[in-house]
Amino acid sequence: MAHEVVVVGSVNADLVVRVDRRPGPGETVLGSDLTTLPGGKGANQAVAAGRLGGRVAILARTGDDGNGALLRAALGAAGVDVSHLLTSEGPSGVALITVGPDGDNSIIVSPGANGRLTKHDVLSARELIEGAAVVSLQLEIPQPTVAAAARTAVDAGARVVLNLSPAASVPSDLLELCDPLVVNEHEAAFLLPGGDPSDAPATLATCLLELGPRSVVITLGADGALVATRDGVRTVESPKVDPVDTTGAGDAFTAALCLRLARGDDLEAAARFAVRVGAAAVRGEGAQSSYPAEGEPLPV
Ligand code: RIB
Ligand code: NA
Repeated sequence: MAHEVVVVGSVNADLVVRVDRRPGPGETVLGSDLTTLPGGKGANQAVAAGRLGGRVAILARTGDDGNGALLRAALGAAGVDVSHLLTSEGPSGVALITVGPDGDNSIIVSPGANGRLTKHDVLSARELIEGAAVVSLQLEIPQPTVAAAARTAVDAGARVVLNLSPAASVPSDLLELCDPLVVNEHEAAFLLPGGDPSDAPATLATCLLELGPRSVVITLGADGALVATRDGVRTVESPKVDPVDTTGAGDAFTAALCLRLARGDDLEAAARFAVRVGAAAVRGEGAQSSYPAEGEPLPV
């Protein structure tokens, strides 16, 4: 049966250390013991949607190292179809993550095999992409690959959701395929000439719509999200939770959004569900390790 959500994106091993404060240049600080957890924005989304009971597949690349095996197993355990999870020679993607006392994180990504996911891989997986209700994309793989996946999806009548993370400039013909474009305030400001993350989110959203996407979602962390279509801008409040680790909460949000869109929700209804899934993810350590399963009570 065709998939509700097909993710074309990254898989990373997350090397996580908790710190009281981050070192400046030339400085050394001691942190917690290291944990190695499955991550990557693409894999996180696939796992989050899979845990929620979605029919999900991923098109991605791992390396032929030990991390690759760990990452593949995590996707499989969440029920994600890994028949298009390819293997390249060399290292898997790795994310070096520090988590601060408030659950805030800083991340450096080394792309590894993610950098080898090509347009050709997209063409080889054409049937998979064409059969999706929603195709979910992020920017931890080469942009030409993202663009090819978006074009293939839209041409087949699938809906494209692009999370512009990490922030990068993208051509307007890619933006125009997005329904929605999902960004946080920093990514929004990055896209807008003269934009500032402290600008009113409604202003950011309205200006972003003018760049061409069919709809826009701005994630606002503890403040929820903002949904913008040609019909107007709406705020969606998030339930309040005590943050333990915010890593990958945005990926959980986007995955939940994609799944509900695939099932026919409108954007605002999908976002109302997605903020609760994002809030659930903030309550636990790590990214995938904190994602809620179908039927688990979500924060309200
Ligand atoms: O969005 C969180 C993710 O960003 C982490 O899992 C890490 O792998 C980086 O890709
Ligand atoms: Na978490």
